[in-house]
Amino acid sequence: MSQARYRAAIIGTGGIARAHARGWSSRPEVQVVAAADIRQEALDRFLEEFPGLTAYTDVAQMLAQERPDIVSICTWPGSHAPLTVQAAEAGVRAILCEKPMATSLGEADAMIEAAQKNGVKLAIGHHHRFNPRNTEARRQIAQGAIGTPPSGPDGHRRGADQQRHPRDRPGALPPGRSGGGMGHRTGGTSNGPLRTGRADRRLLHGPDRFLRRGPDGR
Ligand SMILES: NC(=O)c1ccc[n+]([C@@H]2O[C@H](COP(=O)([O-])OP(=O)(O)OC[C@H]3O[C@@H](n4cnc5c(N)ncnc54)[C@H](O)[C@@H]3O)[C@@H](O)[C@H]2O)c1
Repeated sequence: MSQARYRAAIIGTGGIARAHARGWSSRPEVQVVAAADIRQEALDRFLEEFPGLTAYTDVAQMLAQERPDIVSICTWPGSHAPLTVQAAEAGVRAILCEKPMATSLGEADAMIEAAQKNGVKLAIGHHHRFNPRNTEARRQIAQGAIGTPPSGPDGHRRGADQQRHPRDRPGALPPGRSGGGMGHRTGGTSNGPLRTGRADRRLLHGPDRFLRRGPDGR
């Protein structure tokens, strides 16, 4: 017999939605019941991997019919704010929205306001901030061990390779699909480590190589 007490739904069934579906499914108290996407082909592929979910191309219809307790918002950044507000107003109790939170401060404020007004727990998926690689970078930066970061760009995992992908060229994504700014290059915004010039190249390779010397021996 299912122990699930919470019904979860995924909005946006692309790449990262798989991690959300697997994550919620790993919790005995949660049952993933539905998925929504504006693209039928994305839904079809998702349901091949996660059979048994009810699929919707209309988010409002999904919220009304499924009455989920939890919603993961895994869509492009431009829709994070409107979907968060919509879900909060529809009675969802907890929302896990992917990063970037929104594409403007005003949108972010509207999300927080909707969550507070409707008693909703709202969390943003900045999980890389808790990655040991990044917390170690933060610690070392705070200690002054590896210099002062001149900027905080993206590409925390794939670095230069990511930028070679056609969709990662500057301006390749319209602002509603990317996060704006650095997001034009990578389709999101940074939640990785700050760069500190030379040291970051070693940070990018993970904790095991964190303290190794670079190729030039420094
Ligand atoms: N936290 C992380 O590590 C991490 C990793 C990858 C992506 N992300 C973030 O997750 C989000 C999605 O990225 P992705 O790589 O999965 O993108 P993706 O393009 O693979 O998937 C997004 C899906 O959302 C759907 N969609 C767009 N607008 C919608 C709407 N209004 N209603 C319903 N569905 C809609 C699209 O059709 C698409 O299938 C982005 O904000 C990205 O920055 C976070």
